[in-house]
Amino acid sequence: MIDRVAVLTGGGDAPGLNGVIRGVVRTAQNRYNAEVYGFMDGFKGLIENRYVKLDAQNTSGILHRGGTILGTSNRDNPFRFPAGRDAQGNLQFIDVSDQAIQNLEALGIQVLIVIGGDGSLHIAHEFAEKGVRVIGVPKTIDNDLEGTDQTFGFDTAVNTAMEAFDRLHTTAESHHRIMVVELMGRYAGWIALHAGIAGGADVILIPEIPYDVDCIIRKIRQRCAQGKHFSLVSVAEGATEKEGSMVVAAHIEDSTDPIRLGGVGQVVATKLSQATGLESRATVLGHLQRGGSPMAFDRILTTRLGVKAMIQAVEGPWDRMVALRCGEITVIPILDAISKTKNVDPQSEIVQAARAIGVCMGDDD
Ligand code: F6P
Repeated sequence: MIDRVAVLTGGGDAPGLNGVIRGVVRTAQNRYNAEVYGFMDGFKGLIENRYVKLDAQNTSGILHRGGTILGTSNRDNPFRFPAGRDAQGNLQFIDVSDQAIQNLEALGIQVLIVIGGDGSLHIAHEFAEKGVRVIGVPKTIDNDLEGTDQTFGFDTAVNTAMEAFDRLHTTAESHHRIMVVELMGRYAGWIALHAGIAGGADVILIPEIPYDVDCIIRKIRQRCAQGKHFSLVSVAEGATEKEGSMVVAAHIEDSTDPIRLGGVGQVVATKLSQATGLESRATVLGHLQRGGSPMAFDRILTTRLGVKAMIQAVEGPWDRMVALRCGEITVIPILDAISKTKNVDPQSEIVQAARAIGVCMGDDD
């Protein structure tokens, strides 16, 4: 009989985290009379045994709130925990997963629900291999997790980016400028593609289709010839020029994902401005895509995922991730979700649709 579970939110935050927490806690109380503990700041709180008991009161009024009431961290992997520097200044790592398991046992936690992206779900799976019952919930604005049609947070991020395009559209048109918008997504182009289509971008550059600057220039000149002396360009942070490489902003040594991408928007804007003579400006939307209130789609999705996560926590089997598939909430092995990154298929219908309406995808196709 499962009557005590814990939940934590790991990795970069995404709109909707609180909706999952609320869904878990309400289902636990209403359906199973079970207790829910929340570990603070992702796996860091689990290692340090920092937690709060969650109930109807402290999870009330949180559905519309961005961020996570539990805090999060995209560092602090218990299997590779930073433990100071050696004499040469190199960061040392140790395995503190046994400490985390002891904390779970001491509290009598029978199942751990991990709300996270691929980094956090990898860690969850490693705990499962050590005998911990875990359930994963797919979170990331990047939408790059396999096995689920969509991750929560993605829809809200796309809406935020779409609004940015709408605002940039009017100023681009007034000043006859090229507006380049750099969007998040790591190694996948989901946000740039969807927001680009929704925001009426003329050019969309994604990591899955290496771009050729000459193709973009041709598109912009064609628009000028049609009397449109402005253009909107949607660029994924992971977009690369043909035979080029990704533009890296920083390396964060102790992160579960040490490479931080960033800067490609300015690179593209500078090249376009030099080639076309049109003024170009780059906007980096950055963490605006992660913050703020979730859209209705994400509120509903996170509620359904939270409910299912709690049901699965009680009924098992574990080492599973709840997922959205063909409109239904189902469960899949965590391993299936983390075995590879879900990328945009360049041949997919949505890419073909973008091309059909004249969007330049950065290549000659
Ligand atoms: O994975 C979510 C994400 O927002 C990526 O799109 C982005 O590359 C990264 O996290 C940024 O991380 P940080 O919040 O550490 O800057």
